[in-house]
Amino acid sequence: MSWYDQAIIYQIYPKSFQDTNDDGIGDLQGIIKHLGYIKDMGFNTIWLNPIFVSPQVDNGYDVSNYFAIDPILGDTNDFSEMMTKAHELGLHIILDLPINHTSDQHPWFQDAVNDPHSIFRDYYIWHSEIDGHEPNNWGSFFGGSVWEKNPRNPDEYYFHLFDKKMPDLNWKNPEVQKSVADIAKFWLEKGVDGFRLDAFIHIAKANFEQDSLDSSTKFPIDDKFYAKLPAVKDYMSGFVKEIKAFKPDVFLFGEASSAKARDAAEYTRPDEHVCDVVVNSDNYGEVYDDSNPDIPKFFQDRKLSLEMLKQTYVTWESILDHVSLPTLTWGNHDISRVLDRLNLPVHDDKITKLLAMMLFLQRGIPVIYYGEEIGMHGLKYQKVADFSDQRAVDLISNLRQKGFTDKQILRLLNNQDEMTARGPMQWDSTQYRGFSKEKPWNWALVDSNNVDQEIADPDSIMNFYRELLKIKKHDCFTSGDYRLLITDSNIYAYQRKTADKQGIVIANFSDQKTEFTLPKTVWRKVLTNESSEVEDGVVKLGPWGCCALESN
Ligand code: GLC
Ligand code: CA
Repeated sequence: MSWYDQAIIYQIYPKSFQDTNDDGIGDLQGIIKHLGYIKDMGFNTIWLNPIFVSPQVDNGYDVSNYFAIDPILGDTNDFSEMMTKAHELGLHIILDLPINHTSDQHPWFQDAVNDPHSIFRDYYIWHSEIDGHEPNNWGSFFGGSVWEKNPRNPDEYYFHLFDKKMPDLNWKNPEVQKSVADIAKFWLEKGVDGFRLDAFIHIAKANFEQDSLDSSTKFPIDDKFYAKLPAVKDYMSGFVKEIKAFKPDVFLFGEASSAKARDAAEYTRPDEHVCDVVVNSDNYGEVYDDSNPDIPKFFQDRKLSLEMLKQTYVTWESILDHVSLPTLTWGNHDISRVLDRLNLPVHDDKITKLLAMMLFLQRGIPVIYYGEEIGMHGLKYQKVADFSDQRAVDLISNLRQKGFTDKQILRLLNNQDEMTARGPMQWDSTQYRGFSKEKPWNWALVDSNNVDQEIADPDSIMNFYRELLKIKKHDCFTSGDYRLLITDSNIYAYQRKTADKQGIVIANFSDQKTEFTLPKTVWRKVLTNESSEVEDGVVKLGPWGCCALESN
C-alpha cells in the first residue's frame, strides 16, 4: 500500500485560484493562503497545473526553464514555503511536468536552432522538406501541420504536436530521457511528492514518411502516428526506474487523454515502469449531438448517458482490478465544467451532489477540479471575440463562413470551450469573488456560488463534498471491491466490500420517485442529498436523490 492509494486529489489551476499581489493573476502565496481550506475539505493531495518559467503560450505547458518558478506565480521562496506548509498539514503536492515538448524559447531549442553543431540538435525532431513542403500531412492537436520551418534553415522542419511554439522532444535520444529525469529529481529533492506526466502517450512517433490516409482535411489529426505507440513504454521505463530509485514512493500520475481501460492497465502494471495511475478524458458517459456535420466534435452539445457511464465504469473497474486504481473525475482544465457541459437541469444542487457521490465513492482516486466542490459553473463570455484560444478562433471563422450567427457560436463556446473552465475561484460575493482586487486575467459573467456563503449553509454543495470525502476515507470506500448492481435503467447503484465491511451507493438519475431494495443485511445511512428514507430494507429516493449506506 502506498500513500497515493488513498489520495483524494484537488486540482488547482494556479493562475485562477487566488491572487495576493493585485495583478489579477493567481499565485503561489494564494495557494498557501488556502491550504487550510483544502485540508479542511478533506483533500490530501494537490495537483498544480504547470508552475515553471514559461512564455505562457499554452498557460505554462510551454516551459522555457524547468528549474525555476514562473515570476507571475512567485519564486523559489514561495515554493519552499508552500511545500513546508502543505507537508505540515499532511498534504501532498504533485507538479505537472510537460515531458513531450518544451517552449521554443527553451535554451536547448534556441541552441539547437542557432548552432548547427549544437549538442542539443538531437534533443528535438527535425526533417528536411520533401518536394518543397512538409515531410508529411500529419495534423497538430492545435491546428495546422505538425511541422514548422526551422527559422534559421528553411529547408528543414521541426516537429510539434501542439502549438508551433512547443517543439517536441526527441525521446529516442537517451540524453533527453536523462535530462528529463534530472528535472524530476531536482523537484523531488525540494520535497515534491509526485508528478502528473503531461501527454506522455505522445512521446513516440511513427515513421514520418507515411502520410495519413484521411483526406477530409489538409492536415488530419491521426493518433495512430503519435499516440500510444509501443515505444512509449521503452522510452519511459529508463526515466521512471531512475526517479523511482531516487524516491520510491513518488506518485506518477500519467495523463493519457485517449487511453482505454486496457491501455491504462498496460501502463500501470507495476512491472512496466510507466506510471502508477492513468487519467484519460472520456469517462464522462457523454453522448454527442453530431446531427450538424459543421460542428467539430469538441464543440458539439452532449448529454449524459447513464447506460454509457455504467459500461465505462464496469469496464475500467474490471480491467484495472488488481492492477491499479482508476481515476474518478468529472473534468479538468481542458474541457468546460461538468455542469455546463452536460445540459443537466442545473439549477438543482441535488444533481451536483448526486454526480459527486455516484462517482467518487467508487473504487479509485477522486480528482476534483477547483470550484467543483462549491458547484461553480464556468465563465459566461458575452461575445465571441472574448474567446482567444486557437481552437475557438478557428471555430468562429469556420462557422461564420458556414452561415452560423454569432449568437449560435457563442452558445457552443460557452458550453464547451476550455477557457470557460479556467475562471477565478469564487471565495466570496465581492466584485471579483475574493479572487483579486483587480480584474482577473480571465473574466466574464460568473454565478453566485462562493465559499463564504456555502460554509454557513449546512445544506450547501460544499458541506456535502466535505461529508462525502470523510466517507470516502472509510475502509470500504477506499479499498473495498467494486460491483455495479444490475438495476432499473435510471438507477446507478454499486456495492463496495472488504473482508468485514461493506458500503452501497444508490443514485436516482430521474425526476421521478423511486425505490430500491437493499441486499439483505443491516444497513445504516451515512449520507444522502435529501431526506431519503430507509424502511424495511428499502431505500426511497426522491427525484435525483442519492444515498450511501454502510454495514459491518
Ligand atoms: C495536456 C494538457 C493541456 C496542454 C497539452 C500540451 O493535454 O492537459 O492543457 O495543452 O497537454 O502540453
Ligand atoms: Ca498575483
